[in-house]
Amino acid sequence: MSPDPLPDGIVILDFGGQYCHLIARRVREMNVYSEILPSDASLEEVKALGGVMVIKGIILSGSPSSVNAENPLKLDERILDLGVPVLGLCYGHQLLASLHGGDVRKGSVREYGSRTAFIDRPEHILLGMQMEEPVWMSHGDTVYSLPSCFRVLAHTDSAPVAAFRHEEKPIYGLQWHPEVKHTIHGDKMLTNFVFKVCGSQPNWHPADAVEEGIKAVLAQVGKGKAVIALSGGVDSSVAAAIVGKALGKRIIAVHVDHGMMRLHESEQVKEAMEKAGVNVKVVDAKDRFLRRLRGVTDPETKRKIIGEEFIRVFEEEAERFGAKYLVQGTIYPDRIESGITRHADTIKTHHNVGGLPIHMNFKGVVEPLKDLYKDEVRALGEKLELPRELVWRQPFPGPGLAVRIVGEITEEKLEALRSADAIVTDEVEHSEIAGVPWQYFAVLTDTKSTGVKGDERAYGWTVAVRIVESVDAMTANFTRPPWDLLERISTRITNGIPEVTRVVYDITNKPPSTIEWE
Ligand code: XMP
Repeated sequence: MSPDPLPDGIVILDFGGQYCHLIARRVREMNVYSEILPSDASLEEVKALGGVMVIKGIILSGSPSSVNAENPLKLDERILDLGVPVLGLCYGHQLLASLHGGDVRKGSVREYGSRTAFIDRPEHILLGMQMEEPVWMSHGDTVYSLPSCFRVLAHTDSAPVAAFRHEEKPIYGLQWHPEVKHTIHGDKMLTNFVFKVCGSQPNWHPADAVEEGIKAVLAQVGKGKAVIALSGGVDSSVAAAIVGKALGKRIIAVHVDHGMMRLHESEQVKEAMEKAGVNVKVVDAKDRFLRRLRGVTDPETKRKIIGEEFIRVFEEEAERFGAKYLVQGTIYPDRIESGITRHADTIKTHHNVGGLPIHMNFKGVVEPLKDLYKDEVRALGEKLELPRELVWRQPFPGPGLAVRIVGEITEEKLEALRSADAIVTDEVEHSEIAGVPWQYFAVLTDTKSTGVKGDERAYGWTVAVRIVESVDAMTANFTRPPWDLLERISTRITNGIPEVTRVVYDITNKPPSTIEWE
């Protein structure tokens, strides 16, 4: 049997620009594979990607840096002679100009936002463009001139060389960001580069990753056994489903019910994954978690205890099953570390329950989703016919409801919060804002207040409702839901949960707040 042909692909060199992942995703949306490498990758490292794709072109990303800085970010210039087209965007554009002896200096104005590019030559990457194109700019340095072997393709009011091409070599530059939607014909510019200039074929499809993943897992694990921590999130569920297809009963998906899951969550996870043919073991570890959390009020200590206990339970199960391989739902952005764009969250210890227990003694780690973005993982989940609720589940923190109970965690509080959370979820998902918010949940605060229940005075808990919109959880804005929706939530919670006398709505953005309360 001949091996499957490799897909055509584009290598993106990351100089730290904020849109690097966006470039990679735009290319993938064209069904052409893409991978990001750090800007200082050597020619050999670039060539090594030839093992997973047929390298058809290279894109140099933007950067907050300047080519005239004391220690500018450099490029292994041998890459320019690899024989495939190279496109520089923003900093990449300035770098290519500077490397070829162009005049690159700080501009008289900093161009930021939507600008008009005047297209001097609608050819190659700018084929099909109008005389004036709205483009998204974000730069301080400007290319003022280029040697005579270059053709200027476009200019703006303040940038005389806003787009160029080399006359003999397939080298291109765009001062603007075609990957950003505000560049109205940006998709067309990238399509021109990927298909017309590089000659790529649209032969990469994220859903093929199911078959490829199955083959890769079989090759790696052979006749061995594997284990995965199944949180119920989309990544671990899709990874478990793929590995389940490859290994059948030789994988066990361990779902640790630490007692801080949402209403019926553990049962739903088990049912959905068993339907997908995955061997699931739900470990009821509520008592041991609650015992260790007794009397603990500090949020960081809570997280630490839950993380440690989780690993212990997981290790016991892995050992009992005789698993030699650990499966993880790591996705592409998790493993790409790119200088500036890297998000190092130091505000909270995000112990990602389900993360790698580093000291465990496994023969290997299997990561079937390691090359995919979240939306591609969701596409796989749909192909695998996992339930919609699971594929589109809102993010839920590993320590679960523990970070949504301010103060000590008790069974009574957990029960009240679970009920309140189910009401918020139900109301939001059946409202006109369904599908809009990033997360929507209830928090049990440690504030008590007076209320009237029936004819009697009651002194009960205050529940806070949090509904936020976000694209990546790094920043978030509180949603402005209809008053009617908030009223329904409040009425149902105070009527249905005897211990709650008051419901408040959280109107804080992130920053300054975080999404979770603890
Ligand atoms: P914050 O509260 O820091 O949360 O704004 C950002 C995103 O991360 C989720 N989150 C967690 N996820 N373990 C996780 O796996 C955690 O300990 C944790 N804490 C917060 C949160 O739900 C939001 O989506």
